[in-house]
Formats: sequence, structure tokens, C-alpha cells
Amino acid sequence: MPLVSTRCLSLHKNQAMNTPFRALLEHRRSIRNYLPEQVPDDVIKRCIESATLAPSSSNLQLWEYYHVKSKDKKAALVKACMSQPAAKTAPNLIVVVTRHDYWKRRCDANLDFFRKVAWDEPDDKPIRASTYFTKTIPALYFDFLGIFGVLKKVFSFFQGLRRPMFREVRASQVLTMSHKSVGLGAVTLMYALAAEGYDSCPMEGMDSKRVRKILDLPKGAKINMVISCGKRAEGGVYGPRFRLPIDEVFFEV
Ligand SMILES: Cc1cc2nc3c(=O)[nH]c(=O)nc-3n(C[C@H](O)[C@H](O)[C@H](O)COP(=O)(O)O)c2cc1C
Repeated sequence: MPLVSTRCLSLHKNQAMNTPFRALLEHRRSIRNYLPEQVPDDVIKRCIESATLAPSSSNLQLWEYYHVKSKDKKAALVKACMSQPAAKTAPNLIVVVTRHDYWKRRCDANLDFFRKVAWDEPDDKPIRASTYFTKTIPALYFDFLGIFGVLKKVFSFFQGLRRPMFREVRASQVLTMSHKSVGLGAVTLMYALAAEGYDSCPMEGMDSKRVRKILDLPKGAKINMVISCGKRAEGGVYGPRFRLPIDEVFFEV
């Protein structure tokens, strides 16, 4: 079965596309049938370390990764993933969690870093960082029962009439922001695994409430996705890769 789409093949004629990174992109597929061989713990840890190098909004790093090792928890997690093949056959499961509730402590961690590492720089960077993490980010992330979100929306609407204004200020929109960054971590993890010779499948087809319970996480922690990993077995790739023609997704304006 071809692992490379027709579009990718035509792109491959271009030498610039023939890079190891491109090969990795071509190789990674969502796998739904794995061999029983486990991914070694040190590989998982190294890949998660790589994933933490992903960019995140305001460098808040609102992510956590749970490698589920307990047999009972793993069985419960497979069930919570609707027993779908990508979970059921996987030797390893990692839950990617969005710690939206940690925004304040991650602001403090950034402030700490600036104090220790960059505080004695001659320009006003530390002052700007301090204002950013003590005023700007709290203004965006703090909310109570969605009430502040409505007020922020009204404020941003009227301010936006006069100047460019940040619009995604409601609680659900700020949560989306957190998920966006955590998703970048998740994709980095999958490519880190691919670089180590392991396959993966991202899954949002799961019962997030049950997954949160299995991990004993508070309500403020949100499940971003579950990533299964291991080595692909025969039939692990369900079919040839489908991607839209480039003209449908890329525009020069
Ligand atoms: C956020 C997200 C959630 C996904 N959820 C599932 C899922 O629950 N089960 C599954 O089998 N595949 C899932 N996938 C895999 C997609 O179906 C897959 O990425 C897509 O079909 C493209 O195939 P490829 O990854 O092999 O290129 C998910 C992918 C993403 C990005």
C-alpha cells in the first residue's frame, strides 16, 4: 500500500522537498493497529521532553503529558476511548492535558525565569515582562462564571472601533487558545516519536470526563487528546493518504 500521496510524490520531484524532515512528515500516519512491542520508557520521556520545546501562547506551557503505565488505568482508558482500534491495540497511551487552570502559576514561573535569567539586562525588557505577566495575562485569563468575559468582550468591541484589538477574550475563547498551544505540543510529540522510529495516532474520540477521572484530575484540567503509540502492524495504516489539492488550502494575497 502506498504511504505517500500523489500530491506528495509530485512535490518530491522538487529537490528541496527531499529533506529528512519531509521524509518524517511522509512517514507519519495515524496508526490503528500496532504490534505488541512497548515503546521504552526513556524514549517516551525523551519525546515528551522534545514536545515541551513546542511554542506556546505567552510561553505559558499549559500542557501536561501522562504516560499511562498502570494496567488497570490503561484498560479503563481504552474503554474511555470507546475501545477504538487505535487505543485497543496500542502498547502505550499518553494523555495530553491542557492545564488551563494553571495560568497563574505559569505566569509566576515566567516571572521567576525573568528575575533569575534576564532581570539585569539594561533595557526595559524585565519591566515589560513583569507588566505582561502580572497585568496583561491575568486580565485575559481571569474570569468568574463568564461575567468578566462579557465585560471584556464589550470593552474589546469598543476599543476595536478605534484600534486593532485582541478579540478572543471570552472564557471559552481563552480556553481555545490554551488548547491551540497544547495541540502544538501534541503534534511535536508525534513527530518526536516518528523520529525515534515509533508510530502514533491522535485521538479526540473519547469520553473526556472519564479520562479526567482516570487520571484523577480537577475540573480545570481539560483533556486535549489521547495519543497512542507503538510500532505499526500490518493493516495499521487504513488507506492511502488523502490531502486536498494545495490550491484549495494555500492562497497568496
Ligand atoms: C485532533 C485529532 C483527533 C483525532 N481523533 C482521532 C480518533 O479519535 N480516532 C482515530 O482513529 N483517528 C483520529 N485522528 C486521526 C485523523 O483521522 C488523521 O490524522 C487523518 O485522517 C489524516 O490521516 P494521517 O494522520 O494518517 O495523515 C485524529 C486526528 C486529530 C488531529
